[in-house]
Amino acid sequence: MLKKVISMLALVVLMLTSFSVPIFAVEETEAPQLRQDNIDEVIAAMTLDEKAKVVTGIGWAAFNDELGAAGKTHEIPRLGIPSIALADGPAGVRINPTRENTEDTFYATAFPIATAVASSWDTAVAEQVGTAMGNELKEYGVDVLLAPALNLHRNPLNGRNFEYYSEDPLVSGKMTAAVVNGVESNGVGATIKHFVANNQETNRQSIDTIVSQQALREMYLKGFEIAVKESQPWAVMSAYNKLNGVYTPQNSELLTDVLREDWGFEGLVMTDWGGGDDPVAAMEAENDLLMPGSEQQSDAIIAAVENDELDEALLDRNVKNILNIVVQTPSFLGYEHFDNPDLEAHAQVSREAATEGMVLLENHEQVLPIQENLSIGLFGNGQVDTIKGGTGSGDVNVEHTVTITEGLQAAGYTLDEELVESYQSYVDDLKSLPEYQPPSSFQPAPPLPEREVTAEEAQSYAESSDVGMIVISRNSGEFADRTATEGDFYLTETEHANIDTVSNAFHDEGKQVVTVLNIGGPIEMMSWKDKVDAILLAWQPGSEAGHAIADVLSGKVNPSGKLATTFPKDYLDTPSVDNFPGYPEEDPTEVVYEEDLYVGYRYHHTFDVKPAYEFGYGLSYTEFDYNKIRVNKNGRFKDKITVFSSITNSGDVAGKEAVQVYVSAPDSSIENPDIELAAFTKTDTIRPGKKENIKIDITASDIASFDESKSAWVVEKGTYELHVASSSETVEGTTSFTVPENIVVEEVNDVLVPEQDINRLTK
Ligand code: BGC
Repeated sequence: MLKKVISMLALVVLMLTSFSVPIFAVEETEAPQLRQDNIDEVIAAMTLDEKAKVVTGIGWAAFNDELGAAGKTHEIPRLGIPSIALADGPAGVRINPTRENTEDTFYATAFPIATAVASSWDTAVAEQVGTAMGNELKEYGVDVLLAPALNLHRNPLNGRNFEYYSEDPLVSGKMTAAVVNGVESNGVGATIKHFVANNQETNRQSIDTIVSQQALREMYLKGFEIAVKESQPWAVMSAYNKLNGVYTPQNSELLTDVLREDWGFEGLVMTDWGGGDDPVAAMEAENDLLMPGSEQQSDAIIAAVENDELDEALLDRNVKNILNIVVQTPSFLGYEHFDNPDLEAHAQVSREAATEGMVLLENHEQVLPIQENLSIGLFGNGQVDTIKGGTGSGDVNVEHTVTITEGLQAAGYTLDEELVESYQSYVDDLKSLPEYQPPSSFQPAPPLPEREVTAEEAQSYAESSDVGMIVISRNSGEFADRTATEGDFYLTETEHANIDTVSNAFHDEGKQVVTVLNIGGPIEMMSWKDKVDAILLAWQPGSEAGHAIADVLSGKVNPSGKLATTFPKDYLDTPSVDNFPGYPEEDPTEVVYEEDLYVGYRYHHTFDVKPAYEFGYGLSYTEFDYNKIRVNKNGRFKDKITVFSSITNSGDVAGKEAVQVYVSAPDSSIENPDIELAAFTKTDTIRPGKKENIKIDITASDIASFDESKSAWVVEKGTYELHVASSSETVEGTTSFTVPENIVVEEVNDVLVPEQDINRLTK
C-alpha cells in the first residue's frame, strides 16, 4: 500500500515536473531577456509574429490612453521588450493635460515656435529649449520626442512653417542639431522630421515632390545632413509626400543610400502617422517602424515573409535598428518618473528664448523701448487672444498662455481697463459662436475679425495714453496651408483701417504707435509699415508670450533676433509662387520645384527682387560697428580658412549681434546663387563701447556645391568672396580667398534622380 502511495506520488511529481511546470520553466529560462549587449540573440529568439509587432506601433489607440502621447510601440514581455512612448512636438511635449480619476494635471510648457528659436541665431538658445523639453518629456514618462522639425520655408504659405526653422539649410541644420543635443542630454530621444521635402500641407499624403539632385543635396537634404552629422539623433521621421515618384518611407535611396550610407545615421526611421501605402516596401527601404501602426500592416509583413516576398533578414535589420534605440530609453532602463517637471524653471527658459527670437523690424525715433510707467492705448484682438504657437501636432497643452495684456500690466504699464475689457468681451462673444469653432481639435479656429476702432475712440485713447499699440495676429497649423488672401497673408480691410485710425489719432496728438506682430510666418507689410513708428515681430512666443513681449518692449531685454526667413514685399514675389501647392491647381498631385536652389534670399538677392525685410535682418536698441574683417593665410585656402572681425557696440545699451558670413563662389560650371550663408555666430552681450572679436572657420564642405555630373561635393578653383554681414543685404565688409585647385570634398551615392526634366531656374 505504502509502495502504491509512493509510486502514485512519484507519478504526480513526474507529471508536474514533466508537463505543466517544466513547460513554463523551460520557456522562461530559454527566452533571452533584452539587454544592451544581446540584441542579436533576442532577434534570433523572436517569432515572425513578434518581429512584425516590433516594427508596427500599437495604433491610433495611443492617442486615447491616459498619457495621450501620439504613439506607442508594442511590448513583448516574453523577451523583456517594453513598449516605448513617442510624443510631439516642436514647441513642447504634447500629451493629455488631464486624466480620469485624478485631480493632478499634466500640463507642458509651450516654447516659442521653431521659427522664433531660429531667429535668435543662437544655437545655445536652441539647446536650452531642447534640454528643457527633453526633461519634461522624461518626467512625463515619454521616451522619444517627435521633434525637431526642419523642413525649409520654401513658400511662406506652408501651414506648418511655424514648426520649421528657416528658409536656409545651414540655419535649419544647426538649430536642429542643437535642439537634438539638448533633448538627448536627458537620456530621451529626438526625432528629426519630416524627411524630406515636405513643404506643404495641401495633399501632403499624396503629393509627388519633384526636385533636382542639386537642390535636394544643397537645400532640402542639407539641414538633415548637418543635424545627423552633428547630433546623431535617435530617430528620423520620413515624410508623407512622395519624392521624385516614390513615397519617402518606401524610398531606399533616401533612407538607406543617403541617410545611412552617405551620412552614417545609426538610429531608427519611423513613418509619419499613416505615411506611405506599402508596409512591405517600407520594410525593404529601411523605414524601420510604421506609425502609429496597424494589424493590417503586421499581417502584410508576415505574409510577405512567408511568401518569400520579403527577405526576413531585412526585417531583422529593421528590428535591430529599433531595439538599438529601445535599450537606451527610460522605459527600458526602468526610470521612475513622477509627472512633476519643474514647469516654473521651464517657463523661464521659454520666456528667455522667446525674447531672444523676437525681431525689431522698425524703430523710428527710438520709440522703443517704452518706459515702464507709461500708459499704452492697446488695440487688436491679439492682446487678449494671444497666440502662443500654431495648431495640430505642433501644439502644446498649456495651463495658461500669458496674454499681451497680462504681460504689459505685469511689467508696470498702465492699460485702460475699459478698452481691455471691451476687447475681452468682444473676443469672448465671437468665440462662443458656432462659426468660430475650430473644425477639429487639431485645427485653428477661423480667425476672429478685428473689432473696428472708431475715430472717436482712437481720439480719446490718443489723448489719455502716452503710446498707441496695435497687435496683429495670425494662426495656422496642420492639414491646411495658409492663403494669399485678406486675413492671412494680407491684412483685412478692418486691420488696415484700424492702423490708419489709430496712427492718425496718436500722431495728431504728437504720440507714437507701435505694432506687435503675433504671427507664425510672413505677412504683407509694405502697404502699412510706414504708417506706424515701430514694429516688433514677436512671432508666436510660447506660453510666456505676454511677459516675453513686455521684456523686449520695455528694454529689459535688448532685441537681438534677426529674420531666418524672408518677408517678401508681396506674395507674388515668392520664387515658388507658380509651383505651390502644385498641379493640377484644383487638386494637386505633383509639385515641381522649378525655383531649384533659389529659395528665399538666394532668389531675392541673385535676381534683385527686393523684399520688405530681408533674411538676416533685425534691429537692436544699440548699434554695432564691424571692423578688421580679414581672412588668415594670405587668402589661400587649403582645407579651411578663418575669417575674423571685431564687433564694437557703438550705441548706448548692451546688446548682442548675429553675425553672418555669406560666400560668393567664382563663375563656374555649377549653378551657384550669388550669395549663400556659409557660417553664422552670435556675440555675447557686448557693453556699450566694448567689442568682441569673432573668428569663424570656413571649411571646404561649408562652401562646396553639389556637382550632379560627378555626384560629388566639390569646391571649384577660383576666387571666393566672403561677406561679413549684418543681414543678407547689408554687407559690413568683404574679404576674399583663392582656391588653387578643384577640390572633391566627398563623393556620394548617385541617387534620387528625378524621372522628368525640370525647368530649373538659373542665373
Ligand atoms: C504629423 C507629425 C506628427 C504625427 C504624430 C502627423 O500628423 O505630420 O509631425 O509627429 O502626426 O502626432
